[in-house]
Amino acid sequence: MSKEIKTIGVLTSGGDAPGMNAAIRAVVRVAIARGLKVKGVKRGYQGLLNEEIIDLEARNVSDIIQRGGTVLGTARCLEFKTKEGQQKGAEICRKHGIDGMVVIGGDGSYRGAQALSRLGINTIGLPGTIDLDIACTEYTIGFDTAVNTAMEAIDKVKDTSSSHERCSIVEVMGRDAGYIALWCGIANGAEDILLPEKYDFNEQEIINNIIQSRKRGKTHHIIINAEGIGHSTSMARRIEAATGIETRATILGHMQRGGSPTAKDRYYASIMGALAVDILLAGKTNRVVGYQHGQFVDFDIEEALNMQKSIDEYQFEVAHLLSV
Ligand code: ADP
Ligand code: F6P
Repeated sequence: MSKEIKTIGVLTSGGDAPGMNAAIRAVVRVAIARGLKVKGVKRGYQGLLNEEIIDLEARNVSDIIQRGGTVLGTARCLEFKTKEGQQKGAEICRKHGIDGMVVIGGDGSYRGAQALSRLGINTIGLPGTIDLDIACTEYTIGFDTAVNTAMEAIDKVKDTSSSHERCSIVEVMGRDAGYIALWCGIANGAEDILLPEKYDFNEQEIINNIIQSRKRGKTHHIIINAEGIGHSTSMARRIEAATGIETRATILGHMQRGGSPTAKDRYYASIMGALAVDILLAGKTNRVVGYQHGQFVDFDIEEALNMQKSIDEYQFEVAHLLSV
């Protein structure tokens, strides 16, 4: 059973994502509106262990909703994976009067949140990742911005690729999850999509597709390759050698993580930030906020971490049907 909350901490952890600032702003302002104090923890769990903790007032989060990245900073922290690190983190929370914590990050960050919760700090997780790879939710903070950034970049690559009648391999982020690749595949009308979830693709088939579509008169051939498959540059060399068609690789990289969040990311992250505060105030702990079937919902962290999510086969098939 959780105790009464007087002071809430907020931290961002793992890879940054556009919209994290909107969530921080909402946590701060809703908490203050509910009569609570707010502390910002800089640089994720690493900053917690280093006691990089600042007081946050409503005005401290002015003018951040439109900014990419996270004003609190983020980090990956190995020490927090240890029992000693987690105990130290919980003690530091107590020392600073933090009795509720909002952790914005991905699955890894939820494990840290779970540890804090077990050690008596009421903790709520918010899904912050451009990868959309959190099973308990159909929405993650940052995905919408990242996929739109990638889509716009791929449109530009397509322009030059068509002009030169080339083949282009565009590598998008997603080490373990192909959601950005799949969405861009459909949104950019790509000829082929390579996803880490479908590692057993056949390169000869891709080469045959390129030759066939060139015969049908297509002036470009865009292959969206997820980071988890990788090797775009060497793949481009092999494709060029096999087809005789000039082939270029473009790796979009971290530009996909930056930039001003879309309206959707600002809106959803704001609602989720507010909900995190209200869930803590309702006496809950060890929960994560998600979005499912048009509703904001919350789950026990363990339950959320045990859920599975996979690429929708029908949507993957449609992507191929559309790429004639
Ligand atoms: P994400 O949150 O985006 O999945 P990571 O997997 O890198 O990113 O996790 C972010 C941070 O969360 C890690 O650097 C670590 O500090 C913390 N973390 C990850 N796994 C655990 C764990 N099993 N126990 C405690 N903390 C963890
Ligand atoms: O999880 C978000 C993400 O951008 C992944 O798509 C990518 O694989 C990873 O982070 C890259 O992490 P880093 O910031 O360590 O390069």
